[in-house]
Amino acid sequence: MNRFYVTTPIYYVNDIPHVGTAYTTIVVDALRRFHLLLGDESRMLTGTDEHGLKLERQSQEEGKTPQAFVDEMAERFRQAWPVLDIETDDFIRTTEARHKQFVQDLWRRIEERGDLYEGEYEDWYCVGCESYKTEKELLPGNLCPIHNKPVERLKEKTFFFRLSRWEKPLLEFYERNPSFVEPATRRNEVISFVSSGLRDLSVSRTSFTWGIPVPGRPEHVMYVWFDALTNYLTALGREGDPLRRHWPPNGRAVHVVGKDILRFHAIYWPAFLLAAGFSEKELPSQVFAHGFLTVDGQKMSKSLRNAVDPLRLARELGADTLRYYLLRAIAFGQDGDFSHTALVERYNADLGKNLGNLLSRTLGLCVKFSDGKTPPIGELGPLERELAATAEQCFANARSAWDELAPHRALEATWALSSAANTYVDRAAPWASAKAGDTARTHTILGTLLEVLRQLSVMIWPAMPRKSDGLRAQLGLAPLAPHAGDAIWPKALAPRPAGEALALGAPLFPTIDKDAEQALLEKLAPHVRQAEAAAAAPAPQPSPEGGAGKSAEPEAASAPINYDTFLGVDLRVGYVKTCEKVPRKDKLLRLSVDLGEPGPRTIIAGLALSFKPEDLVGRKVIVVSNLEPRDFGKGLVSQGMLLATGPSEALHLATVEGDPPPGSRLK
Ligand code: MSP
Repeated sequence: MNRFYVTTPIYYVNDIPHVGTAYTTIVVDALRRFHLLLGDESRMLTGTDEHGLKLERQSQEEGKTPQAFVDEMAERFRQAWPVLDIETDDFIRTTEARHKQFVQDLWRRIEERGDLYEGEYEDWYCVGCESYKTEKELLPGNLCPIHNKPVERLKEKTFFFRLSRWEKPLLEFYERNPSFVEPATRRNEVISFVSSGLRDLSVSRTSFTWGIPVPGRPEHVMYVWFDALTNYLTALGREGDPLRRHWPPNGRAVHVVGKDILRFHAIYWPAFLLAAGFSEKELPSQVFAHGFLTVDGQKMSKSLRNAVDPLRLARELGADTLRYYLLRAIAFGQDGDFSHTALVERYNADLGKNLGNLLSRTLGLCVKFSDGKTPPIGELGPLERELAATAEQCFANARSAWDELAPHRALEATWALSSAANTYVDRAAPWASAKAGDTARTHTILGTLLEVLRQLSVMIWPAMPRKSDGLRAQLGLAPLAPHAGDAIWPKALAPRPAGEALALGAPLFPTIDKDAEQALLEKLAPHVRQAEAAAAAPAPQPSPEGGAGKSAEPEAASAPINYDTFLGVDLRVGYVKTCEKVPRKDKLLRLSVDLGEPGPRTIIAGLALSFKPEDLVGRKVIVVSNLEPRDFGKGLVSQGMLLATGPSEALHLATVEGDPPPGSRLK
């Protein structure tokens, strides 16, 4: 039997669970679930990283003992994950006795083999990273490049780990095991880092006490990363413990980590293990580094992170919606953006209109033409054979994508099947065969659809376990309860016997209409609404002192957004038909702009300090056409925004070359 062991990083408890950490944990849970469907012995581990200077300092700031502080914070993580339907097999805390003993054993093993020695260390240290930094890594002003905060100069007695000795063996190991680090770009980074030379690593500290004591030398506590990385093995117990069967060579062990902590996992961790006497075959199978998320196009500052609370999102929209969106919208391994509006769009399009619609129309037809029961299946025609072939392809594609840690592709393949089934209903037209009195044909079509839906309920389970239960309930089926040794990942369509009860229920994914979406955004993402309002404001206006508009300073570049987010902004070519001043508003002009629609749009813009109305008539402009209308009061409503640059009194309008027809889209 195959064994699959998948881990998240253990999270520092100085923070609370946020979309970034929820993302990793959801992916890992989905991978665990996928392997359960294959019948593998599948095991997931997550937990909390609770030692180190950062946490010692934070507990002091809060006037608590470190233990009281970490106890409180770890609970927040433990309680968060079930809200997101994450079912971890174990939750490890580095302050547990089992971990302390395990780490001390590992230390002793390395010491006995000669790779630890005493010395004195002096270098820069970033408390945020809990990591030493070399001079050349720092930004001007001695700032940590990740935290943008000053690093500290540390000089203390320490134990060194002889990392330099492992440079060559590591390079050979990467060479022999090219899938150890994924994706490939990250592997190249690791190889080039190791090739440029490894220095011995300081692995103990004497200037603070919140850590695991070094055996026999209690004035030293272990470096927090030595302690933390070991968690993955602590949780499986010592050699001989039955759980150790999950570790290579008997199992496949995959560490999912963010790209910022790849170096620790891909270099230090295997080096510690090799130094403790593990063979290459006993090293983890893979370290997979994922990218970083921005939120609505902005870097996740702590305040923004906390504003986007994954638990609140799950309570408002259902954990499945959040899970689906994160797994589907972000290519695993690359950076991505978490966007509230894209989330609602995907919910409506993929979940509501596609899968949800397939279920409700199929069950509606079964109620009408098959007495609300599974119908008998007769002879299959070309349309059924075509759908069956597509289904088999989708089963295989989704399976290999999950296996390659590409949830986004797995879900794409899953939804390709749902789309194919929707197309099949339209083409097979069971209502027409029913009207013609061909009951056998009608039943064959409905039976085929029910079978596709049954298989889809399995395929969506890793991403959306609760919706899978809901879907199955309507199909009259019990929730999935996969167990090791019993592979239930679909291979081919195999319809159910006739006469089993179905249970058409409420829509699985009720549509979120525009009003509900606005209300949701208001509640969940006030920053998005504020940003929209700012964007909808008329072109830049000088402050009363005339300051802002005069500034010639370049604006800072915005955080990157993905292509889908960009496509969400509908830019059109407009022709100004009329333009007039707005009475008693000295900065505003009222324009009517032809966007190729049945009637022109009224646009209110802050252009009056730069243009006379007659200058604008007949000009080509670029309009953001899908902004919500903005109400300026007294019946002044703007139905779009013009693009321009410069201060209010010297604006330049954006335009296009040539003569494209009004309404042409810019992409
Ligand atoms: N405690 C260490 C890990 C030790 S593992 C032996 C740690 N903890 S952390 O809480 O700071 O970060 C945990 C993970 O969250 C990292 O993988 C990090 O990449 C990830 N993320 C933090 N912010 C993130 C985003 N904005 N986007 C995606 N992942 C993010 O490092």
